Amino acid sequence: MPRPAPIQSAAKPGGKRVRLLTAFAALATIVSVLPEPVKSATDPQNAAQGAYWNQQAAASWIALQDRLDKVFEPLTRRAIAAASPRPGERVLDIGCGCGGTVLALAEHVGTGGHVLGVDISEPMSARARQRIAAAGYTNLEIVVADAGNYAFAAGESDLLFSRFGVMFFPDPAAALANLRLAMRPGGRLQWVVWRPLTDNPWFRIPLEAALPVLPPPAPADPFGPGPFAFADPGRVIHLLQAAGWRNPKLIGNEAELALGSDPAAAAELCTWVGPLARRLIEAHATPALHQAACRCVERALRARATADGLALSASVWLVSAET
Ligand SMILES: C[S@@+](CC[C@H](N)C(=O)[O-])C[C@H]1O[C@@H](n2cnc3c(N)ncnc32)[C@H](O)[C@@H]1O
Repeated sequence: MPRPAPIQSAAKPGGKRVRLLTAFAALATIVSVLPEPVKSATDPQNAAQGAYWNQQAAASWIALQDRLDKVFEPLTRRAIAAASPRPGERVLDIGCGCGGTVLALAEHVGTGGHVLGVDISEPMSARARQRIAAAGYTNLEIVVADAGNYAFAAGESDLLFSRFGVMFFPDPAAALANLRLAMRPGGRLQWVVWRPLTDNPWFRIPLEAALPVLPPPAPADPFGPGPFAFADPGRVIHLLQAAGWRNPKLIGNEAELALGSDPAAAAELCTWVGPLARRLIEAHATPALHQAACRCVERALRARATADGLALSASVWLVSAET
């Protein structure tokens, strides 16, 4: 699949409305040519997640990945520092998406180490492989699979890493037990996952701003697959312990995350990625609805704009455990 142009570069002299419609049309085109979900994602339980990450969400994550890697950089840096990957180690990166953290981890394990990124999304994995090839690495690998039931080489990995890629398992208990099998004795787990929506203005403010134009949400399990599935620390500790992980710990961490250079750019980002984007996808949003949501978000963010752009606070758990 050809690499889609970043949404930011879709700007046209015709102004914000044209830019938004152009971006919408570009993403709609990409979505229409995306492949069917990978076979492992067609298991009935995983079908919804497989479809979401292979079709509905893939195009925007691919188009926005460079921007997202910069946005998440403060959290990535802290998670990697906590994980402390060492030269020669074998690392698994779960839900690695377009490969930003696979590349970041590679710098630490060196040419004697190995990073295996696993992701359920075929198009995002293809993008990750392109980036790895462009960077010239030969010791990084991407597998398209459901990490919850993939047959990893048993007992080989030193570090199980993830940046926002482990909250989408329909059966997290089984998935965490499966991931545990991949680890060698003395192995480490280090993830960064979102704390609740209420503690995350970075997601919450744009979502609340758009509520007046959104249809009501479908009833949902608060612990179901989604960005906040691991927001409850007691649940995460229980799941990890039950799957055989020792000494699980969650450390709260906060950061001001950029949303965009101005309210329009910020509205663009949060209507294509995150909980508001998911609500728009679920509502089968037309360009008009998408644009209405953007306008609401822009209005809400205007007062927060600074000369340096727009940033809102985000809060995550740095999760660690051992084998
Ligand atoms: C929020 S994105 C994060 C992507 C990437 N880690 C990053 O930070 O840029 C979640 C990722 O998890 C992947 N994912 C969801 N369910 C998965 C599963 N069961 N197995 C492997 N990957 C999965 C998605 O395809 C997506 O790439």
